[in-house]
Amino acid sequence: MLRRFSNWFELGVSMAVVVFVGMLFLNSPTAPAAAPAEVVAAAGGIDGGEIFGARCAGCHGGDGSGGIGPRLAGKVVARFPDPAAQIAVVSEGRRSMPSFAAKLSADEIAAVVEYTRTVLGG
Ligand code: HEC
Repeated sequence: MLRRFSNWFELGVSMAVVVFVGMLFLNSPTAPAAAPAEVVAAAGGIDGGEIFGARCAGCHGGDGSGGIGPRLAGKVVARFPDPAAQIAVVSEGRRSMPSFAAKLSADEIAAVVEYTRTVLGG
């Protein structure tokens, strides 16, 4: 009797572990593409891709295809012809988009914005 319970219990635990690990993988955003050296150099040595992965990918997807936040890839250059307007959204935030003015320097914000416009295919 006890043995039977423990088998069911073990089966239940194993299934819970499988589901949990599966969810971890489903939830993790695709890793962002690395910023090419010339993009990093143009941003004064700041790696916008690294910032994107750490600060933005969780909401906008590792490839910028969207998630909690809207799609950025293939869209931002048309939407923000002037990069300054895009920088303003990232610095100041907008509705559920957090403000990054206190978390990133102006140069870091410019670098991550440039990354979304070039590497993610503005
Ligand atoms: C907590 C989730 C979250 C994080 C983290 C986040 N964003 Fe957003 N972002 C949003 C949401 C939600 C919106 C839509 C805001 C709205 O509805 O006005 C948005 C909007 C934007 C927009 C405007 C898009 C458009 O089409 O108007 C840009 C650009 C942007 N985010 C860039 C970034 C960058 C760059 C980072 C990292 C530095 C970042 N976001 C981090 C949630 C997030």
